[in-house]
Amino acid sequence: MMARRKYVVGNWKMNGLSDALGEAQAIFSAAGAHAAVDVAICPPFTLIGAMVAAAPGAAIGGQDCHAAAAGAFTGSVAAPMLADIGASVVIVGHSERREGFGESDADVRAKAEAGLAAGLSVILCVGEPREVRESGGAIDHVLAQVAGSVPDSFDAQRLAIAYEPIWAIGTGLVPTVGDVAAMHGAIRGALSGRFGDAAANMRILYGGSVNGDNAAELLDAGDVDGALVGGASLTSAKFVPIIAAAAALG
Ligand code: 13P
Repeated sequence: MMARRKYVVGNWKMNGLSDALGEAQAIFSAAGAHAAVDVAICPPFTLIGAMVAAAPGAAIGGQDCHAAAAGAFTGSVAAPMLADIGASVVIVGHSERREGFGESDADVRAKAEAGLAAGLSVILCVGEPREVRESGGAIDHVLAQVAGSVPDSFDAQRLAIAYEPIWAIGTGLVPTVGDVAAMHGAIRGALSGRFGDAAANMRILYGGSVNGDNAAELLDAGDVDGALVGGASLTSAKFVPIIAAAAALG
């Protein structure tokens, strides 16, 4: 197994106008001091091109892509289009897409395949709703999502899984470190069962109310290889401490 480098990704969701580019520059500039950590920002589509220009060489990505490479899909953006404007990453299957836009596991898998085919690194999200957590079915729910949405073949360096319990997103609630480790271990086990040794090279990120205060503890949990961060990724003041926490863990 290659050592899994920590990976800290900012998902800006539907936030950010041109005046936010300075924050991205500050984030990538600070990240440069933490060479052991991979850092990416996924801004809205509208900012990707400008962010690539403002932070040359930085890992910048989309928050979604269409499964098709081109076609009559008004309003959608294809993975090759992201690659064409300099993006190197794409998030697929975020719960806000699965729930808000009705994306199925099959849809998410097709999007992941499209991203990989376009040469992008893919971050594939899974996570359970609150009632499933409360009923004790979280691990089964997430492993079913993993089974249904992870493609059959991929370069393990270019496919990361992000575990984001829906009830922890934007709420300030986080699972216990033990629950995070149990879930990540279960995901790793399922990936190992299906893909063998390659699973050891796949990164599994935690997302949901990660901030500068809880990042060190969450990132140190078993099988946690990084963080997918929403609200706390919008400013360098909040995001850089999370990157630094990852760096401190090496
Ligand atoms: P928050 O960090 O704002 O809870 O969002 C998490 C998330 O959904 C990242 O994709």
